Amino acid sequence: MKDFEIVLILDFGSQYTQLIARRVRELRVYCEIVPYDITLDEIHSINPKGIILSGGPSSVYEKGAPLPDPGIFNLGIPILGICYGLQILGHLLGGRVSKSEHREYGYARFVVDDDIDLFRDLSPDLEVWMSHGDRIDQMPENFVRLGHTQNSHIAAVCDRGRKIFGIQFHPEVVHTPRGRDVLNNFLFLICKCRGEWTPKHFVESSVKKINEIVRDGSVICALSGGVDSAVTAALIHRALGSRLISVFVNNGLLRKNEAEEVREAFKSLDLRYVDASEEFLRDLKGITDPEKKRKIIGERFIRVFEREAERIGNINYLAQGTLYPDVIESRSTRGPSSTIKSHHNVGGLPDKMNLKLIEPLRELFKDEVREVGKILNIPDSILGRHPFPGPGLAIRVLGEVTEERLNILREADHIFIQELRKSGWYDRVWQAFAVLLPVQSVGVMGDERTYEFTVVLRAVTSQDGMTADWARLPMDLLGRISSRIINETCGVNRVTYDISSKPPSTIEWE
Ligand code: XMP
Repeated sequence: MKDFEIVLILDFGSQYTQLIARRVRELRVYCEIVPYDITLDEIHSINPKGIILSGGPSSVYEKGAPLPDPGIFNLGIPILGICYGLQILGHLLGGRVSKSEHREYGYARFVVDDDIDLFRDLSPDLEVWMSHGDRIDQMPENFVRLGHTQNSHIAAVCDRGRKIFGIQFHPEVVHTPRGRDVLNNFLFLICKCRGEWTPKHFVESSVKKINEIVRDGSVICALSGGVDSAVTAALIHRALGSRLISVFVNNGLLRKNEAEEVREAFKSLDLRYVDASEEFLRDLKGITDPEKKRKIIGERFIRVFEREAERIGNINYLAQGTLYPDVIESRSTRGPSSTIKSHHNVGGLPDKMNLKLIEPLRELFKDEVREVGKILNIPDSILGRHPFPGPGLAIRVLGEVTEERLNILREADHIFIQELRKSGWYDRVWQAFAVLLPVQSVGVMGDERTYEFTVVLRAVTSQDGMTADWARLPMDLLGRISSRIINETCGVNRVTYDISSKPPSTIEWE
């Protein structure tokens, strides 16, 4: 049992399930997404304050449709069904669900018929977002109607005695402007939550938990300088002090000044710095295929890390900065996680090294990680950093990776980022970086003919890196960056701006 209040979200496969969890957490209530077929015993042992049934793509009356154990309605725990979750109530509790004559997608006007609790203190009608092809056309016994829309005669219901509620619209999406208030009423009026889930609370309970797990053992952590590993290390350090050994491997593929900056920012963690750049660059000699580069870098990293762990000796745990979306994706009802994600994992380390895994952030979303980082006094310059791929600049120097090419790219990238920071654009984009093409073209500098490399600038906006659009940077900013790069970087006579979105392109070029 958790030592704080928790709400469970049963996942029936909706694309919005994670969003429900985000919204609940934003209201300071801790929640977890669990598979829809969770057993009553498991629910008992978690002892949640409330249960939310998510939406989903199925139809409740179809053979094989995912349904929860009907015993959940007799536990005395408040329940809120959303969309498919509402239809589950209708179907399992004796009402009737059928295919709508009109599928309803997009905005609808929801008229509140009963504002006692779920719709308390809201307006008489609400703008809501619908996405369904089925509807309830007969409520189960003891249920009353709480609201309707033009197309859905029954768009919200409840059985007050058993505290079971259902709504046809999606309160979790931004297109339902008062959706947060509906969830707020469910959590605080109906489930009687206290809203005590804060980053500070998380830090305190994690420190306690880490101590209980590790006891007098010790932990090793690969620190990359990225947000996730930084917060992981700082949290474990707060719990264990010098029994956390943080290792920072310089693979020779870092950005300009990065090794120094990371070492400076994490001085207080007694960072172990390993300069393995020569080994990495030697392995990469003559390699041009992007996937081969990734594999070589991954393998070398494991070897360097293993060697270091052996040198230190007596280590029991390996810490990793796994986040909640990775945890959910690996067990979603939607099937196997997408291949785009696979390259984020430091795969293979625990098996090979015979260490137990500790993942203190596995319950958090990215923005929560940043909030926790603030409490742990990690500087904004680290918390606000753009994502940087594990294989580093090796996948931004297209073709063969050489020291000379890396240096050209480092200079160009540095200028780009400097100008973005100066103009305030750095924090407005998801990621920005320079790419060096293995293409030389003709130019003229002074009276001289030049034959030099091309730099591509890439800046994208995105929510999560899965899809992205190119950032509409101002022309004069691009112009300034281009002339600075060509004037100040030896070996570059052409700069271009990448205006492709993902899909069909990807964010990185390799
Ligand atoms: P793509 O290029 O797949 O990138 O659109 C999506 C996000 O993932 C990052 N990325 C990587 N991260 N190892 C990593 O740790 C990798 O091999 C890798 N490849 C891409 C990329 O920077 C972007 O944020």
